[in-house]
Amino acid sequence: MRESWDGSLLVRPRLRMDLEKRRKVKQMKSLLALLLAGTDTSAVTLEWAMSNLLNHPDVLKKARAELDSQVGKKNLLEELDVSKLHCLQSIISETLRLYPAAPLLLPHMSSDDCTVGGYNVPRNTMLLVNTWAIHRDPKVWDDATNCKPERFECGEADLHKLMPFGLGRRACPGAGLAQRIVRLALGSLIQCFEWKRVGEEEVDMTEGNGVTMPKAVALEVMCKARPIMNNLLSECVNSV
Ligand code: HEM
Repeated sequence: MRESWDGSLLVRPRLRMDLEKRRKVKQMKSLLALLLAGTDTSAVTLEWAMSNLLNHPDVLKKARAELDSQVGKKNLLEELDVSKLHCLQSIISETLRLYPAAPLLLPHMSSDDCTVGGYNVPRNTMLLVNTWAIHRDPKVWDDATNCKPERFECGEADLHKLMPFGLGRRACPGAGLAQRIVRLALGSLIQCFEWKRVGEEEVDMTEGNGVTMPKAVALEVMCKARPIMNNLLSECVNSV
């Protein structure tokens, strides 16, 4: 680099290309981070939610009745309907409580000496938060290990104890989008299909290993289209 007559820096073409390349790599990395952080977490949450519903057919029935009465049997739910769907939201909250997609959040580093829960944490210490354990702590939750979506139906009382997206400044920036995606996807699946377990036995809820918490055994399930599918498909055909 050399200084031009007016004092600004003239960047040599080769250096400019390097800067350009580095900027592109940075953009690609950010896009990749969004894809990785956003897709698997939402997909895994949807699979756990469906598994919960199949093991609790009464809750599935209640969610379907809510969708039929609040949205109707002919229209697919839209974002505006969501505020009326308390049962659907409770199922998602209970799924995120029992099966948080990022059970240890992301590693955090203390930038200064601090105290967390009575423990002295020196500067530059890696801190992992076990959300999975906190979400199942019987001192925090009634009947902690059982799936009871109705615990979230009586208002906000228990919601503040949930932290599947982390808390504070480094909390998940995609939390709002994730809630919307999962709500719309799960709601549409319930609206459009009848769901049944493959056999008599309950869906295996064992957790597998991974950065996001997958099911050890992938969900297999039977489904049958509901009448609303006729409307939706004929609308699609007519609009082509
Ligand atoms: C059910 C779905 C999701 C769950 C459970 C989830 C959960 C989390 C958690 C626990 C963290 C770490 C927070 C912390 O350490 O305190 C995180 C970070 C992050 N999430 Fe999500 N997430 C989900 C969906 C999404 C979506 C849809 C996007 C964007 C499209 C997204 C983008 C990110 C990004 C970029 C970070 C890193 C933030 C940072 O480093 O400061 N996530 N997420």
